[in-house]
Amino acid sequence: MELQGKRILLIISGGIAAYKSLDLIRRLRERGATVRPVMSRAAQEFVTPLAVGALSASHVYTDLFSREDEQDVGHIRLARECDLVLVAPATADLMAKMAHGLADDLPSAVLLATDRPVLIAPAMNPVMWNAAPTRRNVETLKADSISMIGPMKGEMAESGEAGTGRMAEPLEIVAAVLDLLSPQDKPLAGKRAIVTSGPTHEPIDPVRYIANRSSGKQGHAIAAALARLGADVTLVSGPVTIPDPAGVAVNHVETADQMLSAVLSGLPADIAVMVAAVADWRVVSSAGQKIKKQPGEPPAPLQLAENPDILKTIGHHANRPGLVIGFAAETQDVETNGRRKLEAKGADIIVANDVSPATGIMGGDRNRVKVISRSGIEQWPDLSKDEVAARLAALIAERLSSTA
Ligand code: CTP
Repeated sequence: MELQGKRILLIISGGIAAYKSLDLIRRLRERGATVRPVMSRAAQEFVTPLAVGALSASHVYTDLFSREDEQDVGHIRLARECDLVLVAPATADLMAKMAHGLADDLPSAVLLATDRPVLIAPAMNPVMWNAAPTRRNVETLKADSISMIGPMKGEMAESGEAGTGRMAEPLEIVAAVLDLLSPQDKPLAGKRAIVTSGPTHEPIDPVRYIANRSSGKQGHAIAAALARLGADVTLVSGPVTIPDPAGVAVNHVETADQMLSAVLSGLPADIAVMVAAVADWRVVSSAGQKIKKQPGEPPAPLQLAENPDILKTIGHHANRPGLVIGFAAETQDVETNGRRKLEAKGADIIVANDVSPATGIMGGDRNRVKVISRSGIEQWPDLSKDEVAARLAALIAERLSSTA
């Protein structure tokens, strides 16, 4: 219960992302926090005070001029009787009010009256996020010591438009709350890490490619976990459909060749964690135009060439990071193959897993791994990919501290 006894005043302002605030309330409460919700008038168009009240098990405050509420708690007490004011979603409008000290409704009045730390999770259309007034307001809020999580890149819920503006996911917001309220140790502060994640796509022609079933979930979770421990993380990601993790610099690539150059340009680093399911082969010369069927003729064979082995290159590089970690995706003889990869690739640790379809690991949310190093093999239990990431990040911190 990492948030036991913590009181969070949650301000929900009016955007489509307000639906995620319901899950956020659950996530905060299951960690022991009490959540007192304040909703703007517009927020009530997106989620009902009834749902917010039921999930938070609290009265929902909506009106600056409600005689009952003002007698009961009052906006000044609301603003002070908490350990953190969290605004999720924070609309462009509310951010503008905050930046200018307006206080004409309950959310803005509370924000002006509070002397507690404030964390906002902006959510808006990408054009609004990039608009000059919002840029100015963000700078003002930062200068006023307002903490911010997101917005993230990705597709917008209502318009399908892509860009920066999506509200951070509830668990990312919880992590930011934890950071503010119970700052963890940052054992990886000052360390640089490079993480690869996802599949690679190797073009056959302009419309076709060779790929695999990797989702990027494990690699992205590891990048986020290392960042949470204070590392300066560069994530080199193949084509995935999941959002960029918070607090990490992301370099998006398509092919193994591009991934290798992105990784090499990230050197020097202290830690390399190569999680990507790099395609082993590429098409020797991918066609410049779409390959057409020739009636009555067999399909032209694809001539393949081996891709560079990124982990092996890094493991034997003159500028090798102090700690090099690889994964081993196997469908049989997991241990033997894992040990072999440890040696062949010059890695310090191989995280081996059985990716047979029956395990559901590839593309799924859980993982069951064996951690193979020269000092032995450890079998970890069935865990979520986030839990595997957190354990691995802790193991990395331990290794680096014992060699420091
Ligand atoms: N890897 C890499 N570059 C490649 C192939 C693999 O960096 N061209 C890395 C992966 O990121 C992983 C490790 O090597 O950390 C093992 O990958 P895996 O797919 O299990 O093994 P391969 O080396 O491809 O060998 P095989 O396909 O024969 O099992």
